[in-house]
Amino acid sequence: MNPFIYHNPTELIFGKGAIAHLADKVKTFGKRVLLVYGGGSIKKFGLYDNVISILAEQGCHVVELAGVEPNPRLSTVYKGIKLCRSEQLDWILAVGGGSVIDASKAIAVGVKYDGDVWDFYLRNAVPQAALPLGTILTLAATGSEMNRSSVITNWETKQKLGVSTTFPAFSILDPEYTFSVPRDQTVYGIVDMMSHVFEQYFTHTTEIPLQSRFAESILQTVIENAPRVLENPHDYDARANLLYCGTMALNGTLPVGVETDWATHSIEHAVSAVYDIPHGGGLAILFPNWMKYVYKENVERFKQYAVRVWNVDPEGKSDEAVALEGIARTREFFNKIGAPSRLADYGITDEQLEVMAQKATPFGPIGRFKPLEASDVHAILQMSL
Ligand code: NZQ
Ligand code: ZN
Repeated sequence: MNPFIYHNPTELIFGKGAIAHLADKVKTFGKRVLLVYGGGSIKKFGLYDNVISILAEQGCHVVELAGVEPNPRLSTVYKGIKLCRSEQLDWILAVGGGSVIDASKAIAVGVKYDGDVWDFYLRNAVPQAALPLGTILTLAATGSEMNRSSVITNWETKQKLGVSTTFPAFSILDPEYTFSVPRDQTVYGIVDMMSHVFEQYFTHTTEIPLQSRFAESILQTVIENAPRVLENPHDYDARANLLYCGTMALNGTLPVGVETDWATHSIEHAVSAVYDIPHGGGLAILFPNWMKYVYKENVERFKQYAVRVWNVDPEGKSDEAVALEGIARTREFFNKIGAPSRLADYGITDEQLEVMAQKATPFGPIGRFKPLEASDVHAILQMSL
């Protein structure tokens, strides 16, 4: 195990009726609020009205930034920064999925920075301060509700980049808010949280039994609960389990003392930057191919994955055969829940493979399990057609 420092200040407020805590937060953070949300799903299932009435009861001055896109855009972030400054707002309340939260994080750090917020994403500056941010999560997927990452797309330059920004001060997670998530987005969320575990599980770091078992148990819990949610989207307990898995998969618990990878996420972000496809859909296509491309770097780790997560029986089989069976089971599971399996499913051909390979590696080779050059990325994309 490597040395580590673990710090996560986000207060997680979880469960049915958790929104009752919102009023207290106004007392803590102030009455001038930027309310950020997406394309209107929160209006359809009543959360918007609920939030507005709680904020009104507290005498808040609420300024709205609506219409944050899935794969949130830099242009929207600029609008939010402008509103916070012109209206002199105290804090930001993000209500939605990862896109709304990521845009809100960018706004929070952008307000406190004199230069262009995109500097952070280009690694030309590091955020030093942020407006307080609270979130009400409506989709189990990214873990953004309890981490510092923000992923933003600059549509002008066709770049989608992630950077460490600021932790939410609090996040309210009520599983009932995820009942209305459509089937395809539910599937993308399932793939995304599993992919976050993969990025932190496939490692060369040894002697990490607890981190490994945390990771394996998150994967097993997702695998058990995914079919329940797809069968009955209103299954409170299954939705709650997935919601908690999504948070735990990317809130800093898994990578402590572990060298993590993240190459597949960089590749997916490059694909999304060029084709604007859903993040989880891209990961479902890419991850099994990444696994096939790199497993020889540490067959033992892939064998452990196959045996412990998929219950593959290793009896009488070579380590490599067991490892490959685990990878095949991953693909089968994604297929079973209805995730896409080929770039062609999104109409993507071999036309822009080199463009995406270059975009995936803007700061040099990516990943640590097997550092990938643009040519490796090209090969994985080719396998994914
Ligand atoms: O925009 P609205 O109307 O709200 O609809 C959204 C959107 O169309 C809808 N939705 C959300 N909650 C709903 C709902 N529809 C009905 N009922 C609900 N309760 O779902 C659609 C997708 O929402 P989005 O926020 O884009 O999804 P997700 O949470 O998967 O976020 C994806 C974004 O997060 C980034 C991705 O790259 C992508 O841009 N990521 C952020 C990470 C982080 N900050 O840590 C890590 C991830 O790896 C990821 O890269
Ligand atoms: Zn992800």
